Amino acid sequence: MTVTAVRSKVNLTPQLEIAGGRQLSGEVAVSGAKNSALVLMAACLLSRDTIRLRNVPPLTDIAAMADMLSSLGVTVQASDEAIELSGDRINSAAAPYELVNSLRASFFCIGPLLARMGMARVPLPGGCQIGTRPVVEHVKGLKAMGAQVTIEHGVVTAVVPGRGHRLKGGRIHLDCPSVGATETLMMAAALADGETVIDNAAQEPEVVDLAGLLIAMGGRVRGAGTPTITIVGVDRLHGADYAVIPDRIEAGTFLLAAAITRSKLRITPVIPEHLGAVITKLEEAGCRIEHDGIGVNITARQINAVDLRTQPFPGFPTDLQAPFMSLLATAKGTSVITENIFENRLQHVAELQRMGAAIRMQGNTAFVEGVARLSGAPVQGTDLRASAAMVLAGLAAEGITTVRGLEYLDRGYAALEHKLNAAGAQISRVEAA
Ligand code: UD1
Repeated sequence: MTVTAVRSKVNLTPQLEIAGGRQLSGEVAVSGAKNSALVLMAACLLSRDTIRLRNVPPLTDIAAMADMLSSLGVTVQASDEAIELSGDRINSAAAPYELVNSLRASFFCIGPLLARMGMARVPLPGGCQIGTRPVVEHVKGLKAMGAQVTIEHGVVTAVVPGRGHRLKGGRIHLDCPSVGATETLMMAAALADGETVIDNAAQEPEVVDLAGLLIAMGGRVRGAGTPTITIVGVDRLHGADYAVIPDRIEAGTFLLAAAITRSKLRITPVIPEHLGAVITKLEEAGCRIEHDGIGVNITARQINAVDLRTQPFPGFPTDLQAPFMSLLATAKGTSVITENIFENRLQHVAELQRMGAAIRMQGNTAFVEGVARLSGAPVQGTDLRASAAMVLAGLAAEGITTVRGLEYLDRGYAALEHKLNAAGAQISRVEAA
């Protein structure tokens, strides 16, 4: 092989090639929720028994979490139907830096490790493309439950002092309703001594799903889905067989795929209450949406401008802000989109502009003036949901769009191009220099 041949082989990057302008039809299947599955997997650290999780999506983030848990001594067995996690032989309470660095969500382990082992050493996950993403609230809550926490050289070390090494229930008020902090503290409290009350808790469906698993394991949790969650610690949690909820963000992405291609599509399974704010905004934009308890049917023709502001659940989810912006880039009129959750989550604006979108930015607000047609271009997904936004824009654009940054997309969407192609899209995954 010549040097040039070797070099071009080394530099090959996977990308999606999308031939835009095709309508979608039929039915698209939604996988299990990534963000739920990740935290439910971490909850296996709370029990010696086997936790069997069904409807876990086949994603690189899930594989990374499995590696993380394996490194702590958890036995992980995956089949097509379920993933079985057995925490009877945990031999380490120290999470490796490389694994936490590659998957922020692995910081979740700190709560269950501390509750079960009386100590945990977990590197700070650091920021990511969308913002700095602190873990101050997680740490503050663990301290309120009696843990001694030190942070040195980028590693959080938490220890429960005293005999028995058992956390103590307490009252915790979160300064912001952080999803990760709420979940971390719920897991820690599940084996703590006495009652823990988390005020200003996150109300996201993934928090409710975690409560569902903890209850299935014998835990005592009330109020999940409201701003006040009460957990009464138990001595031991047992095994469980539990199905992860459908992914509301993936479902929302498919709704937007139908809307941006002005199509009629059925999406299933969907829990409509998980998508309340998104469905309301799509209806406001002119889409017709009906649900029948299992799935939703969307019919989209003309799309009108709408304003949206991202908020904690039940407000409009930050994870669908970028995909919704792609839709509004094709709407009639000017929309105002404000990102309130993450400080750096408008990087997709520059990429959409490359496709002909007319967007003006001011701080964390984007003014999106709809254009008659986007035009296909090479674009880069800058984070998971920004990559999805590029795919959606490509579906509607004239000509060919190539999307790079699939390492992000594959973290959160299982077989995205196959699912969309089965509904009439024309997307191929190619290796390009
Ligand atoms: C989770 C989701 C992510 C989603 C986000 C918001 C997972 C694996 N990821 O992330 O997809 O975009 O919720 O819905 O479930 N904050 C603080 N201090 C803290 C913790 C958070 O100020 O100690 C702030 C963050 O900077 C951010 C906001 O709270 O501005 C929300 O963050 P959080 O809810 O913690 O998000 P994650 O749990 O990391």
